[in-house]
Amino acid sequence: MTRITLVPGDGIGPEIVTSVKDILSASSAEVSWDEVDVGLNVYEKTGVLIPDEFVASLKRNKIALKGPTTTPVGGGHRSINVSMRQMFHLFANVRPIQNIPGLPCRYQDVDMIIVRENSEDLYKGIEYQVSEGVAQGVKLITREASEKIAHHAFTIAKRLGRKTVTAVHKANIMKFTDGLFLESVRNVAKLYPDIALNDVIVDNMCMQMVTDPSQFDVIVTENLYGDILSDLGAGLVGGLGLAPGGNFGSELCIFEAAHGSAPDIAGQNKANPTALLLSSVMMLEYIEQGAAAEQIRHALYKTLDKEDGRTRDLGGTLGTTDFTQAVIRNLG
Ligand code: NAI
Repeated sequence: MTRITLVPGDGIGPEIVTSVKDILSASSAEVSWDEVDVGLNVYEKTGVLIPDEFVASLKRNKIALKGPTTTPVGGGHRSINVSMRQMFHLFANVRPIQNIPGLPCRYQDVDMIIVRENSEDLYKGIEYQVSEGVAQGVKLITREASEKIAHHAFTIAKRLGRKTVTAVHKANIMKFTDGLFLESVRNVAKLYPDIALNDVIVDNMCMQMVTDPSQFDVIVTENLYGDILSDLGAGLVGGLGLAPGGNFGSELCIFEAAHGSAPDIAGQNKANPTALLLSSVMMLEYIEQGAAAEQIRHALYKTLDKEDGRTRDLGGTLGTTDFTQAVIRNLG
């Protein structure tokens, strides 16, 4: 039995976390939960972004499954996600973008993995008000973090038998920052001669992804570009309700969906739990419970294969709870 830190989070978080808990407990997965509240409610009550209880739990268990947390736009507190990623040195955000078999989609043969640097770039939080009407943000890129994320991307490519890594950047304009990122990736690529490296400028990358996403394999990029490209990628294969992810450090990791807390549908039994469920499948693979991961993936695909087995975001009619029950019935 592996103990996992579990964060319900904000908005649709508690609904999709309950769904995933129910599906995992009906499956052959051997996990138990250490549930800790982190999010807007806790912050508003205590003024603490990341409670000590969460820190202690994650350090003990090493692995967390997390629902989304809300960050106010334009003001208010710092992002809990960004703070967690920096606090626990979760330097890599890995987001697979894949077609779900049987689910109608404008694009076919999409099977890419976005490996996003998670600790620096414009997300470092170095921002100033210089004077009235003038604000400045610092884009921080280091060789160390860029090489680390490049190694992570090439290691994934090697482990999964992938052929190509694409570095995404804007080094034609940001010659120092993105120039350093690209140079670092190129240096690391020399250590992996069996895997090809190419590079694409980020604006062209957006065009290429919506024109022919099947051409991409593993993508390595900086924090902001990775954030944007992973939502774009989710849209290619059916939407944010389907896109899983994991944040990895050298010792700890947090699995979470790419989407946010979706306040527009929170508390309405409309959320699609698939992205978080697939994040939990990634987690089960990570803790070497491959059979349970396969059992859940199979049940999920079987459910989504039928038109009447889908939530509203995918054109279906099922609410979160009925969808959950349908997946459980298909566990076999
Ligand atoms: P969002 O991802 O929450 O929602 C965007 C759109 O996708 C909405 O229309 C929403 O209803 C839909 N959607 C998202 N997930 C869905 C699901 N599972 N099922 C069905 N529909 C789904 O992005 P938004 O609105 O920009 O952000 C809302 C909040 O979430 C913000 O406070 C933001 O900071 C936070 N956020 C948190 C993240 C995290 O905790 N990892 C990641 C991204 C955003």
